[in-house]
Amino acid sequence: MKHLLKLMDLSEKEITEILNLADQLKYEKKNGIKHHILEGKTLGMIFEKSSTRTRVSFEVGMYDLGGSALFLSSRDLQIGRGEPIEDTARVLSRYLDGIMIRTFDQEEVEKLAECGSIPIINGLTDYCHPCQVLADLMTIREHKGVIKGNKLCYVGDGNNMTNSLIVGGIKMGMSVAVACPKGYEPDAQLMAWAKENGDFLCTDDVLEAAKDADVLYTDVWASMGQESEAEERKKIFRGYQINGDVMAVAKKDAMVLHCLPAHRGEEITAEVFEAHAAELFDEAENRLHAQKAVLVKCMS
Ligand code: CP
Ligand code: NVA
Repeated sequence: MKHLLKLMDLSEKEITEILNLADQLKYEKKNGIKHHILEGKTLGMIFEKSSTRTRVSFEVGMYDLGGSALFLSSRDLQIGRGEPIEDTARVLSRYLDGIMIRTFDQEEVEKLAECGSIPIINGLTDYCHPCQVLADLMTIREHKGVIKGNKLCYVGDGNNMTNSLIVGGIKMGMSVAVACPKGYEPDAQLMAWAKENGDFLCTDDVLEAAKDADVLYTDVWASMGQESEAEERKKIFRGYQINGDVMAVAKKDAMVLHCLPAHRGEEITAEVFEAHAAELFDEAENRLHAQKAVLVKCMS
């Protein structure tokens, strides 16, 4: 695997191999086993948006694997002043062994991979969030034993998270149901692909989507970059919330996931959040292990 640009580029086998390696790395970290797999290697981490989990887990992940990481804010880089991504890619390829990038436009990530000569890892774009969904799949497998055959229900905005959950869920044999308000559905091409390749439903009815779900997932109503729409979105998305009524129609042992940060009282109630904190923080922890597996696959 050279890059991780989006989950659509990976096969079920490749995703399973990443998850298996992530489980192994998690076990080894818990047992104090040290690694030198990426000794002498440096990952550049370009951030054009805020981050807690992605930034810290990639930095610690590189350290755990014997390498190092550089935090590069677009505010300080010349990209922020208009230097073309093509030139940035060619320059950074001369210094670094890999780049993790969080930005707006998916095309920027694809261009970085095309013009540079080092592995590129997508740390979130407006289109998708593949690293998060690898951690999510790892967490589902940890808690449910298997991924295949489980029903995943996503409630909320058809955003970057939804796009990656659809691809990851369908590729791994889950049934995927998405509940979004009309006009806020996920990517149309991905939905068409999902219908052709698995069991997929998109509805505006939350309870219909959540019925008999094994995994309930939600994300913020306004993503990074949509701050100016936040107030309007609060009205549009009211009701697109994981709450007691939604839990009541899902399976009794349904787990609840959220990429975080969460807005209690909006997409999830405080009660549901706290009742499922064990899963939610395992999910956040698994960002570290899943990404270490991605770093090993791309950079070793
Ligand atoms: N879930 C996630 O990507 O979190 P951060 O925005 O904190 O990196
Ligand atoms: N949809 C959210 C995910 C944050 C991890 C955003 O893009 O802001």
